[in-house]
Amino acid sequence: MNIGIDKIGFSAPNYVLDLADLAQARNIDPNKFKLGLLQSQMAVSPVTQDIVTLGAQAAQAILSEEDKAEIDMVIVGTESSIDQSKAASVFIHGLLDLNPFARSIEIKEACYGATAGLVLAMSHIAQHPNSKVLVIASDIAKYGIASAGEPTQGAGAIAMLVTADPAIMILQDDNVCQTRDIMDFWRPNDDKYPRVDGKFSTEQYTDCLTTTFDQYKKRTGKELADFAAVCLHIPFSKQGLKGIQALTTEDEETLNRLSERFQEAIVYNKLVGNIYTGSIFLSLLSLLENSQTIEAGDDILFYSYGSGAVCEIFSGRLVPGYKEHLQTDRLEKLKQRTPLSVQDYEKIFFEEIQTDEKGNAIDLPKDDAAFALIDIQDFKRIYRKN
Ligand code: HMG
Repeated sequence: MNIGIDKIGFSAPNYVLDLADLAQARNIDPNKFKLGLLQSQMAVSPVTQDIVTLGAQAAQAILSEEDKAEIDMVIVGTESSIDQSKAASVFIHGLLDLNPFARSIEIKEACYGATAGLVLAMSHIAQHPNSKVLVIASDIAKYGIASAGEPTQGAGAIAMLVTADPAIMILQDDNVCQTRDIMDFWRPNDDKYPRVDGKFSTEQYTDCLTTTFDQYKKRTGKELADFAAVCLHIPFSKQGLKGIQALTTEDEETLNRLSERFQEAIVYNKLVGNIYTGSIFLSLLSLLENSQTIEAGDDILFYSYGSGAVCEIFSGRLVPGYKEHLQTDRLEKLKQRTPLSVQDYEKIFFEEIQTDEKGNAIDLPKDDAAFALIDIQDFKRIYRKN
């Protein structure tokens, strides 16, 4: 049975910061961000937008009423949880009015969580071929003002509908994983922002990639030259480019070809920033919607990496007609986001919801987005769908 991605959608908050402005405010050469990190802009999320609203928005963009009635599992991969107990997928299930007889869970392992969700979805469909599984990757990346990670921040969500006989991509069931108990990036429960060993994290990203790919080649007999493109986890675009270069040390033709495809696969990531669990799938969406070269039947290699660390390499094959299931105006929509000054970004991105002693929100700003957090009462988050 062929199982894979039948639909894919994306949402980002409506605010954007230009990294040239951030560089100027931080007294840094703008080329460090533009060329050194290969990033141009970052999405900025207000307090009224979180992983629930972004995830619901991404899913709403792709689901038909029929899908909503047939989905029997909702998986949210995230490392920006809004509750230590209740899964974000339960809130999203309610906001989207999905089939009540569904399983809803949240998966955490840094930027890798949604890939684990995809694997779980595949097993579920293999057992229940008529089912549909909604896999959402939703995150808000914040490193703090003037930190090294600040220009790599971002926010957004990817939603994927996983089914039998998918319309976009058949996942090949050739996955190879690796787990390493390391401290390259972590988020203690009582810290607002992640702790990062920046240089160590970049080294681990690349070493996990090359060692897992060696194992992948041994197990599958496949070579890099077999793939039309590579989609990697993109914490910032330069990291992904270094990954491609680390994979292709000898074959120059393959390196050139994959480097060209890579530029197409980071069009959106450069404008949105790191969206943690969703970054690899945003890169897929970018490739699918911006490449004039790839075509049905092509195989795409994936490298998912989550700090801590767990990584996975797997592949997918493009299905005839996949282009009919994509959007052509996404770049235009990204250009329509509201630009922020650095001062406004600092105010919006780092704003915190104030609550009184009874757990009721004080002066929560109004938000007209399709899905928004509208109140907190008695410590309960209350969302609205417009
Ligand atoms: P940094 O240390 O400030 O930057 O931050 P740098 O000094 O390493 O410079 C970055 C690049 O800019 C270098 O290029 C410089 O040469 C270049 P490279 O040598 O690496 O090719 N550069 C310039 N280029 C042109 N003109 C200039 C100029 N100046 C410098 N004037 C760091 C870099 C990655 C440490 C920081 O961004 C950071 O801490 N980021 C967060 C951690 C991260 O993203 N790690 C990536 C791997 S781990 C991962 O992917 C998992 C993650 O997504 C989390 C999760 O799984 O949940 C992060």
